[in-house]
Amino acid sequence: MELQLTKEVLLAHPAAVCLLSSLLSFVVDMARITCALAFAALAAAAPLITRQDSDHTQLVAPDGPTEYQISYGPRPYYIVQNMTEGPLKDKLMSCENGPFSVSGWSIGHRGGGTLQIPEESAQSQEAGARMGAGVLECDVAFTSDLQLVCRHSLCDLHTTTDILLRPELAAKCTTPFTPANDTSSATALCCTSDITEAEFLSLCSKMDGSNSSATTPEDYQHGVPSFRTELYDTCATPQSLNGFIDLVDSFPGYRNFTPELKTPPAQVPMPFQGTYTQEQYARDLINAFINKGIAAARVWPQSFLPADVFQWISEFPEFGSQAVYLDEEGDTPETFTAAVARLPSLKAQGLNIIAPPFNYLLTYGDSNNDTIVPSSYATTAKAAGLDIIAWSFERSGPLDRVEATEDYYYSTFAQAVSYDGQLYEVLDILANDIGIIGMFSDWSATTGYFANCFGLTGPVGGSYYNSNGNSSSSTDNSNDNSDNDASSSSNNSNNNGGWPNWE
Ligand SMILES: *[C@@H]1O[C@H](CO)[C@@H](O)[C@H](O)[C@H]1NC(C)=O
Ligand SMILES: *[C@@H]1O[C@H](CO)[C@@H](O)[C@H](O)[C@H]1NC(C)=O
Ligand SMILES: *[C@@H]1O[C@H](CO)[C@@H](O)[C@H](O)[C@H]1NC(C)=O
Ligand SMILES: *[C@@H]1O[C@H](CO)[C@@H](O)[C@H](O)[C@H]1NC(C)=O
Ligand SMILES: *[C@@H]1O[C@H](CO)[C@@H](O)[C@H](O)[C@H]1NC(C)=O
Ligand SMILES: *[C@@H]1O[C@H](CO)[C@@H](O)[C@H](O)[C@H]1NC(C)=O
Repeated sequence: MELQLTKEVLLAHPAAVCLLSSLLSFVVDMARITCALAFAALAAAAPLITRQDSDHTQLVAPDGPTEYQISYGPRPYYIVQNMTEGPLKDKLMSCENGPFSVSGWSIGHRGGGTLQIPEESAQSQEAGARMGAGVLECDVAFTSDLQLVCRHSLCDLHTTTDILLRPELAAKCTTPFTPANDTSSATALCCTSDITEAEFLSLCSKMDGSNSSATTPEDYQHGVPSFRTELYDTCATPQSLNGFIDLVDSFPGYRNFTPELKTPPAQVPMPFQGTYTQEQYARDLINAFINKGIAAARVWPQSFLPADVFQWISEFPEFGSQAVYLDEEGDTPETFTAAVARLPSLKAQGLNIIAPPFNYLLTYGDSNNDTIVPSSYATTAKAAGLDIIAWSFERSGPLDRVEATEDYYYSTFAQAVSYDGQLYEVLDILANDIGIIGMFSDWSATTGYFANCFGLTGPVGGSYYNSNGNSSSSTDNSNDNSDNDASSSSNNSNNNGGWPNWE
């Protein structure tokens, strides 16, 4: 039964399954032989990636030894095949056999394998790296002993780990498990700050989900959205920030880091334990990279709190020059207008990179709501000289459902999408019309395939920092109208082979 499944999937896409198989250590001898053959067959087509260059200046070194290949698996092909005929489909079809390489434009969201593999785990990072993500994310939370660990929310351990199945740790949860009854849902709230780093690292990471009808902690473990899977819920490895840095630094090819400082929820009032301030937490995040000897040019620190970003700009100007402000202040029509109006002042205060959800960047292009165009947010951010990173692709499931489910990421243009081939139409407007410099994705292959096909290499580390110790200024954006890829600091190398601007 297991072997049969393996064979079937291998037929669909040999290399991806081989890679995931080795990753999760369930390779059987038969599969191993098939894997070897699959790699041999692919070897001619796919460029090979060397270990990190010691000077970290090269994004990709394609001529190295045959030790590591980027693999996108079947999903990009599935999307391309479902596209409407036309020049965009032709262009993407032309890349079916490569290039396949690491691209910093493809940012591994919570690791980059998050669509199928437990978020923030070492296995999700491994998957994102294998699928070519050039930048990998760790959301940075703190533990009761003030150590930094990777977890999307300080208080999501009850849905992203097996903590409720560990009685001695479950007892430490801010809100222990309470079963559902006829009138109330099951509840629990377990925070990284409830336990020590060692206790955190002893947990199993699992797919984010919970069962509000659960009457036992065992039942509470389930509830993953149907388009995701529990296939890899086999005790994925949680990570400390230090462990994440070491892991990402060890991946072949040039990989960078995007740590996100969290805003602790009301249940974890700051200063934590009376003395641990948000400012110290922000400092500790940057110092973790400094202590590991990681150059600022390789780090893209993010936060939803403007104060964190401006603290980095003033205290760690080299890191701060490429800090990413995550903007979620425009979710209603009224706040959206205010969020757009605020963009130039953010730039004037030294911010270089703005990161909204991609629904802020797109809007309908006609009164029938059939077409999609860049929004006022996108055009205003570009005009203000801000570079744009967007989040997050591949979190929404099939596009034929996004309108009915009022999916957040498609909220501003849901009527214009209904089949999965349009995933690449959306990405094309973001990349080639707006010129975003990077895209977070829960499945790095989808963004990586696209980025490689269009020669998008992502943000250029170090390029935002002036030698005089300043963040680069908003007033010298002289190449803004050179082409549609206006950013002064992106390296979307524009080798599109005469590719027309896609309207
Ligand atoms: C794309 O998939 C949808 C089903 O989701 C199908 O109706 C449509 O015909 C497909 N389009 C192409 C071009 O394959
Ligand atoms: C149901 O659970 C809630 C919350 O735990 C509790 O307050 C309530 O008394 C329970 N109701 C019954 C009928 O047990
Ligand atoms: C959710 O919990 C209820 C009650 O324990 C159980 O009957 C149901 O099967 C569970 N659902 C899932 C998806 O595990
Ligand atoms: C188009 O979308 C807008 C905004 O969601 C909505 O107000 C309008 O009714 C839609 N138009 C049509 C023709 O559905
Ligand atoms: C930063 O740049 C501004 C304007 O270019 C300049 O006035 C200021 O002196 C610079 N600060 C430092 C520390 O170099
Ligand atoms: C942009 O990328 C190209 C090709 O990868 C490289 O040759 C060039 O040096 C890069 N430019 C910058 C500014 O990083």
